[in-house]
Amino acid sequence: MRRIVVCGISNRALGMFIEPVIHDFDAENRIVGLLDVDDRRLELCKETYPELQDVPVYQPDQFEQMISETNPNTVIVASRDDTHIDYILRGLALDLNIITEKPMVTNADDAVKVMEAETKSKGTVTVTFNYRYNPYHRKIKEMIIAGKIGRITSVDLNWYIDTYHGASYFKRWNRKREHSGGLSVHKSTHHFDLVNWWIDQLPVEVFAYGALNYYGKDGELNPSPQDNRFCGTCAEQLNCDYYTRWSNRRNSQSVKDDHIQSSISQSNEPDYTGYRPDACIFDHEIEIEDTYVATVKYDKGAFLSYSINFSLPYEGYRLAINGTKGRIETAEYHEPSRVPFPIPEQTIDYFPLFGSKETIHVVKGEGGHGGGDPVIQEDLFLGIDPTRQYEILAGAEAGAYSIAVGEGVWRSSKSNQPIKIADLLKVPTLHENQ
Ligand SMILES: NC(=O)c1ccc[n+]([C@@H]2O[C@H](COP(=O)([O-])OP(=O)(O)OC[C@H]3O[C@@H](n4cnc5c(N)ncnc54)[C@H](O)[C@@H]3O)[C@@H](O)[C@H]2O)c1
Repeated sequence: MRRIVVCGISNRALGMFIEPVIHDFDAENRIVGLLDVDDRRLELCKETYPELQDVPVYQPDQFEQMISETNPNTVIVASRDDTHIDYILRGLALDLNIITEKPMVTNADDAVKVMEAETKSKGTVTVTFNYRYNPYHRKIKEMIIAGKIGRITSVDLNWYIDTYHGASYFKRWNRKREHSGGLSVHKSTHHFDLVNWWIDQLPVEVFAYGALNYYGKDGELNPSPQDNRFCGTCAEQLNCDYYTRWSNRRNSQSVKDDHIQSSISQSNEPDYTGYRPDACIFDHEIEIEDTYVATVKYDKGAFLSYSINFSLPYEGYRLAINGTKGRIETAEYHEPSRVPFPIPEQTIDYFPLFGSKETIHVVKGEGGHGGGDPVIQEDLFLGIDPTRQYEILAGAEAGAYSIAVGEGVWRSSKSNQPIKIADLLKVPTLHENQ
């Protein structure tokens, strides 16, 4: 029996871990303790899942007490990003297995601490990179492993975040680098991990440009230069294009998204104490970037050309992976209900260097992130699928490399200098054949 304590009763924790453990994996798993800095979150959790009524609740300074009283073997970490490090290190010190949300931590220094602590612990660290489990992403991994495109030489990845999803980061704690590492860490950790995993090479050096173009005090669509507004109570709602596009005049959210919910509460109580997830996207405190382009060099010769933009008319990505024997291409338009134009079905195109093109129609699954979330939940709560032929569940090293690339991106954009991953992760030398 897996005995689980959950640190951080976030929206993500409720939907991704607590709900499936209670409803789908209850024969093998039990939640024995809940911890959050905010009592309202603990209360909300019990209102949503009465099955947890008798589970004891704790504050951050009671972590060790929680462990001794509830005797867990697994710690799920799903709190605000900058607080992950604390629970990962304290859990490893007590030889517990850690399952942490991405990003594992918010900077490379903390990632090094996690890797060092794991070597001294009987516990292990798993990072829940659910994008790997998307059926298209698994298919691409399988095509590369099968040698369809040979040795990988370059990757083009352009990620587009729409005005709804992009703005959501600038309304919440995610907009502060001290809390999230900035979006090249908080969000792009998914993308850098995917590339690192697909091509099975280690990143060596990053160069990037970054800018704040849409949000913050100079955002061109800011109705007026004021500070400290909140969408729900803003007098300028109808003058704000972001507000009017995604909300109606009764102030109810018209959009449903599997991983951004502004509210989960059925009652009229706020969902958080002393914090609102609808702060104005034009607030003056915003200084992280919303636009990046980056180049990454890898240890076995691949180059990545990456871009991300957090305020676009639709959401999705374009990907091409080139190798010595061929090329893989795909494009995705996320959440068809949110894209206001006709969109093509996602397929994967395979072009051998010489020969005929093949188009692959991937079998999709039900559930969040293209059907990836239920599959990672099975690996986490039933054990890794023994029939799968390749490694997919990520550990601390994968968490660290994805964060180091993300930190390299924002640091390079500030310094106008290339950043070496070995310097960030304090590894003496990374094997390089370039
Ligand atoms: N894999 C994915 O696709 C995905 C999607 C969404 C969020 N996430 C990750 O899940 C985590 C939660 O994100 P969210 O947007 O659902 O968060 P949220 O804003 O809903 O909740 C954050 C929670 O952290 C708690 N918290 C703050 N400081 C704390 C501390 N010191 N100790 C314990 N708890 C503390 C808050 O009280 C709150 O309950 C983040 O790490 C985020 O990056 C991952």
